[in-house]
This record gives sequence, structure tokens and C-alpha cells, in this order.
Amino acid sequence: MSQLPPYVLDPAGTDRHAEHRALRERGPATRVDVLGVEAWSVSDPLLLKQLLTSPDVSKDARAHWPGFAKAVDTWPLALWVAVESMFTAYGAQHRKLRRLVAPAFSSRRIAAMRPAVEAMVTGLLDHLAALPAHEPVDLRQELAYPLPIGVISHLMGVPDDQRNDFRELVDGVFDTTLTPEQAQDNTVALYALMDQLIATRRGAPGDDMTSLLIAARDDENDGAQLKPAELRDTLLLMISAGYETTVNVIDQAVVTLLTRPDQREMVRSGAVTWEDVVEETLRHEPAVKHLPLRYAVTDIPLPDGQTIARGEAILASYAAANRHPDWHGDADTFDAARTVKDHLAFGHGVHFCLGAPLARLEVALALRGLFDRFPDIHLAVPAGELRPTASLISNGHQRLPVYLRAR
Ligand code: HEM
Repeated sequence: MSQLPPYVLDPAGTDRHAEHRALRERGPATRVDVLGVEAWSVSDPLLLKQLLTSPDVSKDARAHWPGFAKAVDTWPLALWVAVESMFTAYGAQHRKLRRLVAPAFSSRRIAAMRPAVEAMVTGLLDHLAALPAHEPVDLRQELAYPLPIGVISHLMGVPDDQRNDFRELVDGVFDTTLTPEQAQDNTVALYALMDQLIATRRGAPGDDMTSLLIAARDDENDGAQLKPAELRDTLLLMISAGYETTVNVIDQAVVTLLTRPDQREMVRSGAVTWEDVVEETLRHEPAVKHLPLRYAVTDIPLPDGQTIARGEAILASYAAANRHPDWHGDADTFDAARTVKDHLAFGHGVHFCLGAPLARLEVALALRGLFDRFPDIHLAVPAGELRPTASLISNGHQRLPVYLRAR
């Protein structure tokens, strides 16, 4: 099995399910080519969980990946491995960086945000209701994007006039069809905008996380706990994670409900809850398909006799794992009534998504609001014409045209 040439992942994500099936068929872990970088794609959920909780696996490319220096110069996904935040930190450094922001995202703090998120959903639905009655509406533009962007911008103190620029540049981070030069230009522009945000909040601090982190950074006694690059990259992480992923879960859930009337009926009748729909969407069409990258700190023997050698890169193939037949019977079928609801959409272990409670709240409220307000909503194009986002990481559609009312 180790003799197989690396499986080349499709940067445009054209047929994700065929790709994920092929990866599973090649075994629990298999060599892949990620835009020219070789890595082990892990699609077996048990093995993946084991690796994600092992101290022998790191996300710190500087410390544990010999390929780092080359990747920084030439790889279109360089930003994913070069940032200096909890996302790429290992051990004590990871705990330190995560602790700075984690309290703000506890389940209790997020539950307290419910009325504010509800109000934002209502505002967006009012806007939808005021659009011309019989014209198609791109739901990604009008709901799926503005809600998470509104919520995270509020939390992070991103001024209104910077939100759209962020959106375009964060989109660029997830677009894996960019050339190395385009990706590099995108990164430069993103950091310029990040510096603008820091300057704005340093000049006019508010009750937001950017201001709090700047204060921690600028504190004469305490400043050493956050380097300038860590401040910038922590903000970048929070904003980009908050922008892109939740959008795709809303998108995927809407598409599923519009193509599976039986599932919609189950929600309407109370047989399942909106929260069940959210969890099954996260399992069935996780917003992050593959997560770059992790590295073996030491040689890691695999159950099938192969070895991930020290310094080799590992790709967490969450979407492939979520549909593993050993984990979920009939895994390709969306079933909100499924009793085993586990999935890896938010990762696992110390890097488990910090925004999970917030994302779950936003998606559930958006779906409930949308389907309550527009019970006749339907797709404006055949489902087969919806085009996937050009990414091997994120998992949504380029556009989501719907009619909100019966025609
Ligand atoms: C449904 C939406 C979301 C999905 C599917 C998602 C998915 C993920 C995944 C898969 C990881 C783990 C990466 C890894 O394997 O190391 C992660 C990490 C993270 N997510 Fe999310 N995310 C979502 C929403 C959010 C939101 C709204 C925020 C912030 C407000 C957020 C903040 C973070 C942060 C800070 C990390 C890094 C945690 C660490 O490295 O310790 N995410 N997310």
C-alpha cells in the first residue's frame, strides 16, 4: 500500500465525495499531494482521533517540519502553516495562546449572546423580506455571509468600513486555486488590513476582543506574553475562522433541506430539532474538508504496518472521516434523526474549535428564522447546477440562488 503514488488532491474541490471515497479506500492513512506538498491524509476516524490527541503530533511547522522553509516561499497555502497563533502552536505555547481568548468563547458566554444573534438574524430576514418578491436571491450573499461576519465583527471590533475588505481577503485564504503569487499578494493585503484594524482599535479602544488583546500586548508588565506577530495572527485566526466556516454550514444545511423535503418535514413536525439538523450537516458536509497541516514529532507506526516518519506532514481529512462506513452506517445519507451524532467537523483534541458553541448557535438560529419566515423557500436552479467553492479546504457553494416565496 505504501507503494501507491501520492493521491493528488483537487485544488478546485470539483468532486469532493469521490475524492474522499478514494482516500478511504486507500486505507486509514495514505500519501497525498496537497498543491505540490506531500502529506499523509488520515481518513480513518479512530486513527485520526488518536493522532489528534497524541503529543507525537504537532502543528508547529517551524519546530517540527523540515519542509517549512521551502513551503513559506513557494506554497500557495503558506499562510496556513506560517501563522503564529494557537492554530499552529504546540504544547505549553498552545495553552498560553488559547487561554488568552478562550474565556470569551465559553458555552456560558455564548449562550448569553443568544438575544444579540437573534436580533441580527431578524434584521437580515427583514432585509430579505423587503427584496423584490419574485426575483431569485443569493442566500450566501444575503444571509449566510452577513450573519457570521456581523457576529464576529461585533465580537472583534471590526469597523463597518473594513468588513467587506476582510471578506474578500479571507475568501482568498480559503481559495486553493490561487497561484503562489496571488496567495502571497492576498496575504500582504490581509496583513495590511489587520494592521489597519489594530491601529483603529489602539486609537479608539472598545469593549471588543481586539482591544483586549492590544491592551494585553501593550501592558508594560504583561506585554511579553504576546509578541506582535502573535497579536496579529491571533486576530487573523479569530476573524477568518469566524468568517468563512459558519457561512458554509448555513449554505449546506439550506441546500440539504431544500432538496430533502422529508428532513424538513421532520423538523416541522418536531421529530427532530434545528440543533439535530446543524449536527447532521456538520457530519454530512463539514465546513472544513481537509485541515492543513500537522507534523510527526517522532516516527509514528500505523496499525497497517506503515510508518509516518518524523518530520512528515499530516492532513486531517475531516470530511472523509465523517462519512467513514465503520463509524456511521449509511454515512452518505443525511439523516437528522441519526442516533450516533459524533463527527469531526470541529476537529478533536487540544485544537478543538474554540468557536463551536458560537457557530452552532448562529446556524441553528439562522435556519429556524429562515424556514419559519419563508416556508415556501425553494432553490432557483436545479441542485446539480450549484457549483462548489474552489477549495480543497472549505466546503460550500459559489452561489446559492433561491426563491423565498411560492411562484
Ligand atoms: C461551523 C463553523 C466552524 C467550523 C466547522 C470550524 C471548524 C474548525 C476546525 C476543524 C478547527 C480545528 C483545526 C485543527 O484541526 O486543528 C477549528 C479551530 C478553531 N476555530 Fe473553528 N470552526 C467554525 C467556526 C468558528 C468560529 C465562529 C470561530 C471563532 C469565533 C472559530 C474559531 C476557531 C479557533 C480559534 C480555532 C483554533 C483552535 C486551536 O488551534 O486551539 N471557529 N475550527
